[in-house]
Amino acid sequence: MCGIVGYSGNKQAAAILIDSLKRLEYRGYDSAGIAVFDNNGMEVYKEKGRIVELEKDLPEISGFIGIGHTRWATHGKPNKINAHPHASGSIAVVHNGIIENYQELKEKLSRSGYEFVSETDTEALAHLIKYYYRDNLIDAVISALKDIKGSYAIAVLSGSELVAARKDSPLIIGLGEGENFIASDIPAILKYTRKIIFLDDMEIASVSKDNVIFYDTDKNPIEKKVSVIDWNLEAAEKSGYEHFMLKEIHEQPRALHETFAGRISELEGKITIDGLNMTEAQIMDTSRISIIACGTSYNAGFLGKYLFEELSGIHVDVEIASEFRYSHSIPGSLVIVISQSGETADTLAALREAKSSGCRTLAITNVMGSTITREVENVIYTRSGPEIGVAATKTFISQLGVLYLLVLYFGKCKGKLSQERMSRILIAMKQIPSHITRLLNTKDAIKKFAETVSSSSDVFFIGRTLNYPIALEGALKLKEISYIHAEGYAAGELKHGPLALITKLTPVVAIATKGLTYDKVVNNIKEVKAREAPVLAIADEKDSEIEKYVDEVIRVPTTEDILSPILSTVVVQLLSYYIAKARNCPIDQPRNLAKSVTVE
Ligand code: G6P
Repeated sequence: MCGIVGYSGNKQAAAILIDSLKRLEYRGYDSAGIAVFDNNGMEVYKEKGRIVELEKDLPEISGFIGIGHTRWATHGKPNKINAHPHASGSIAVVHNGIIENYQELKEKLSRSGYEFVSETDTEALAHLIKYYYRDNLIDAVISALKDIKGSYAIAVLSGSELVAARKDSPLIIGLGEGENFIASDIPAILKYTRKIIFLDDMEIASVSKDNVIFYDTDKNPIEKKVSVIDWNLEAAEKSGYEHFMLKEIHEQPRALHETFAGRISELEGKITIDGLNMTEAQIMDTSRISIIACGTSYNAGFLGKYLFEELSGIHVDVEIASEFRYSHSIPGSLVIVISQSGETADTLAALREAKSSGCRTLAITNVMGSTITREVENVIYTRSGPEIGVAATKTFISQLGVLYLLVLYFGKCKGKLSQERMSRILIAMKQIPSHITRLLNTKDAIKKFAETVSSSSDVFFIGRTLNYPIALEGALKLKEISYIHAEGYAAGELKHGPLALITKLTPVVAIATKGLTYDKVVNNIKEVKAREAPVLAIADEKDSEIEKYVDEVIRVPTTEDILSPILSTVVVQLLSYYIAKARNCPIDQPRNLAKSVTVE
């Protein structure tokens, strides 16, 4: 995820900006840049790759005010031109987030003579601020922000003026002695100050070396509270969370929000999917889809199968990438590869196989510029931000988000999905990020159950239809990080074998949200209870029946039935996390596993 820093003080800005950016390196990025102002004007330096690459060619820069950025590409390739800061005349901007209406702004500004050199959405913002600039930066920023749709954290430099603003993307101000700072994350500036002010949405700060003034979007001054941060640096990189995995689980509302940004218009009941590049006629012609992936991405694809078949009527095969290359792909079918990293060797090999068989190919991935994105015909990005914990969490949720979008889009084109149902689902989808936030605030019951089962040797996860892939994902998460043997089962299949293993020593997690197969899952719960297994049910918050049959219930907010798997996922992730924690496992780096597996 991108990082922002800004400085105004009595020390040389460049060194402080570079040092602060380095403290954000752990978040992942693909290019970096700084802009510094001194009396001779503004200088901008940027480079593709690591910060050390940027440092290599950096001349002696003098200047006491500046901004810096590490970019994690979302609009446009990771290269020097697309790296931030983006300048328009004497104004330079660094930006995190997505400007959803940037195409529209770009067209308007081009007509007014502004020249665009990058593929980024941020450049439109730089020109827009310049467009409004008269002799006061804060006024220009306020005017520009009124025109943009989307999410942003920005730092803007013009001469000796420095302005920061945010909406849906974090930004903080650090207060020093004779110097003040801007940063997207606390660790960037913790070495310099522990006095932090958290900007809230729609707030703007004018930052100088001796003073910081805060405004609302009508330029009314506002009072802000100063917080004193007592974290150590290492903890700060995890924003106070004990593990990256837990941090990334908590980042899921934001990740999903980014996945949906600019793609859903719930008011019009419409979806726009950048990167799909298929005409309605091509979608109409699609009668078969193969989804190919490994690990957690496979489980996302498996849910995609159920969704596609229910909502678009298209037959879908889901295949493990390392097996697909030995099966026979059907020429003319659409092959969707899902890979968080875009580098998994087995998935890449399967993609090459599909292409050579004449299949149309589409990738769902999180990493712009990765090998899969260079080889596949079309790409849809999940926009989850970098994921550091080996066990995938937020990237899985975002993959599901993209799959829901795709399925609805295909279902609509195919005429299988009514506008009324589509509109209802879209409204519900937009609410999912806040439902996840609610769920994250009620962890106690999950922790309690986690502690009671942490000494078990085997755990079963069961579910039917849409919940079956989530049972698989729950079991995968648990074995990855806690080393407990875990199985994900289609609940109806229990009686054909695994029931022989169920005893009072084998806890069962049953995903029993409301839907088509609810009653059947309740019967399966009774089967395992009859063998004395301790049962945790994941159930709808309005379900007043379920507690009669199980030992513990975790409730998820009520939503459209087909969306509840996203919410159940959060529960199985937290459960695995707390079980692994109770067992003192190295959660972020489980033994024998790698984040990205680039060997076959
Ligand atoms: C590795 C990781 C898993 C991941 C799988 C597929 O095994 O440990 O977390 O699900 O690779 O990775 P991909 O990047 O292709 O989604």
